Amino acid sequence: MTGPPGSGKTRLGVEFARVAAGRFADGVVFVELAAVSRAELFLPALAGALGLEQRPGSTLLSTISETIRDREILLLLDNMEQVLTAGPELVDLLKLCPALKALVSSRVCLGVTGESEFPIPCLDFPEPHRPMPLHLLEQQSAIALFLDRARDAKPLFSLTPQNAAQSPPSAGSSMACRSPSSSLRPTSSCTRRNRS
Ligand SMILES: Nc1ncnc2c1ncn2[C@@H]1O[C@H](COP(=O)(O)OP(=O)(O)O)[C@@H](O)[C@H]1O
Ligand SMILES: [Mg+2]
Repeated sequence: MTGPPGSGKTRLGVEFARVAAGRFADGVVFVELAAVSRAELFLPALAGALGLEQRPGSTLLSTISETIRDREILLLLDNMEQVLTAGPELVDLLKLCPALKALVSSRVCLGVTGESEFPIPCLDFPEPHRPMPLHLLEQQSAIALFLDRARDAKPLFSLTPQNAAQSPPSAGSSMACRSPSSSLRPTSSCTRRNRS
């Protein structure tokens, strides 16, 4: 999965893993690479996520591949753009472990053999300072998501010329959706739907 930050790669990956988990007898392993700053640290991060330690006299790649060779595991590798040049090591591991699958999120493709790209585009959002009729505004996917979240807090919330002009959702609209402004917070009697 490729796309800019905030486009929804992690969320989609986690949802995919939840739905597909039953097809992997040995489960899903989530490997968070956001804080991994160098490609040499890719295999150590992977080993850590799998709960493995390098065997004496063996390379880390061999330790990992020999341990999981026959296991049906889905690796969910998140933020692989941090360690792009480690792509060939992932390919080596996949070749050594036929039942292993990898779902990778990255801002850009790894450029390795066997890769299939699934682009995750940003939500549509209106250009700031270019007024748009409300019925068209509501059709922009960023606005539709914002309205959906806003109505969790205030069921009767709707776009008006006044609130539409206040702060046009833009690239930061996902933040707006995560943190509705105080005017949209639920009242104490209001039950939020259970969403992340
Ligand atoms: N389809 C969606 N519906 C609702 N919220 C979404 C959707 N996709 C992403 N989000 C929210 O947008 C924000 C950014 O998504 P995230 O998966 O972290 O993006 P990325 O991993 O591409 O940086 C998160 O708060 C996430 O919950
Ligand atoms: Mg992410």
